[in-house]
Amino acid sequence: MYSEKVMDHFTNPRNVGEIENASGVGTVGNAKCGDIMRIYLDINKDGIIQDVKFKTFGCGAAVATSSMATELVKGKNVQEALQITNKAVMDALDGLPAVKVHCSLLAEEAIHAALWDYATKNNIEIEGLEKPKSDISEGEEEEVY
Ligand code: FES
Repeated sequence: MYSEKVMDHFTNPRNVGEIENASGVGTVGNAKCGDIMRIYLDINKDGIIQDVKFKTFGCGAAVATSSMATELVKGKNVQEALQITNKAVMDALDGLPAVKVHCSLLAEEAIHAALWDYATKNNIEIEGLEKPKSDISEGEEEEVY
């Protein structure tokens, strides 16, 4: 059912954790299942994502796509990171079962939410970035493991 790459990233997820004083943090929830993901970005003064971490309270596909998404954004600039779609993440994982495609959206949305947070904090505009719809604001978020 799952590709070897999905199983690899699920059983050995990369970049799990959090970044203190991150440049941008995005927390999103998946309306279909209630799962939650948070992504932390460390962006240097040149706009390069030099570190990224994630925490996911979600299914195996959500863990695997978050892990792969963090690998894909690391070292990219913010514009390049914005172009990384859930489809690109799924392709990098050699696909997901159809019923698990929605899980891959969490990673894309969490990256966008973290980029939005970064842009807001620094008072900059990232072309093509829209305000995240599903960002969970402080106060209503739940504990993420
Ligand atoms: Fe919720 Fe996969 S079932 S993210």
